[in-house]
Amino acid sequence: HVLDIDPNAASKGTYEFYMLKEIDEQPAVMRRLSTDYLDEAGEPVVDEKIVDAVSQADRIYIFAAGTSYHAGLVGQQVFEKFTGIPTEVGYASEAGYHFPMMSKHPFFIFLTQSGETADSRVVLTEANKRGIPSLTMTNVEGSTLSREASYTMLLNAGPEIAVASTKAYTAQVALQAILAKAVGEKLGDSAAKDWNLKQGLSLAAEGIQEIVDGKEKIEELAKKYLVPSRNAFYIGRGIDHAVALEGALKLKEVSYIQTEGFAAAELKHGTISLIEDGTPVIALINDPVTADLTRGNIQEVASRGANVITIVGKQFAKEGDTIVLPEIDYYLSALLSVVPTQLLAYYASKNKGLDVDKPRNLAKSVTVE
Ligand code: G6P
Repeated sequence: HVLDIDPNAASKGTYEFYMLKEIDEQPAVMRRLSTDYLDEAGEPVVDEKIVDAVSQADRIYIFAAGTSYHAGLVGQQVFEKFTGIPTEVGYASEAGYHFPMMSKHPFFIFLTQSGETADSRVVLTEANKRGIPSLTMTNVEGSTLSREASYTMLLNAGPEIAVASTKAYTAQVALQAILAKAVGEKLGDSAAKDWNLKQGLSLAAEGIQEIVDGKEKIEELAKKYLVPSRNAFYIGRGIDHAVALEGALKLKEVSYIQTEGFAAAELKHGTISLIEDGTPVIALINDPVTADLTRGNIQEVASRGANVITIVGKQFAKEGDTIVLPEIDYYLSALLSVVPTQLLAYYASKNKGLDVDKPRNLAKSVTVE
């Protein structure tokens, strides 16, 4: 069945937890962003002032915290590919007090679901003092970071209630892609012009639906490999590295299984010493450039006894892969590959009998530094 988002409805309906409801809403979020920000012909519909301001930048700086920071890591690659503008991503909490060296014409993007994160606000306040133009991508209209930045683009994902962010992440990834295409086209970038984002977001919606329809299998994997384990690893390269960091954060925050995400090849430079018989290693393979190399890294951990779960785009799939994703453009691959990681986290937490929506020690929005 197809879920629609009612921006005013924050009811759980028949769901036991908001987190699963919000995971299930992601196809609708993708369709909504496509309708709100792309016209019939697939051309971006983005405030011309925003497109102009970003086009004039010689460097884009993305600041965020937590899951939003991980969305920024994906955005970095997308902005560089489709606009040709060098892009940096930083933890807002670090940049606030160790302000990065600025280029001549910087443009700041703040990614924040709530629009209230204090760490991000510190950076924005400093940017405003220095007269640096800025954009907040947020889910909350009228939020503090939205009011204080030069520009706002809304994620339109509907209210996100579970502390662990899911649909806001995929909305941030998609919205950055839309902005990158708009700016790239303005700058005459041919990759941006040729990028069929309308079709891409439609494939993302269908693909996410296919993954959530297969959630029983992911629950079995979570029960078998994650619930009994005290630690786990995510590995990947390129955008898969960014998703590995997010998948690891999601799993540890809701299941309390100590999980780290790594650039796949970095494991062998130290962390591989932690691999024992039965250690779960979840490997992501969606990057055409490094797919074979990551296979090699899987061999390294498998031969040391790891239980490997693979999350692999169909075009790279081999016999024995665990979760095969529908085919999609590499620059949109996070929209699909993150979904099994969200479901693995959800089911690990649920099957441990935890309060999935309200993990201990965490808050949905952190308004202190
Ligand atoms: C808190 C939440 C995280 C979130 C982070 C950034 O720590 O628990 O889920 O990713 O804040 O929040 P923001 O609203 O700025 O995206």
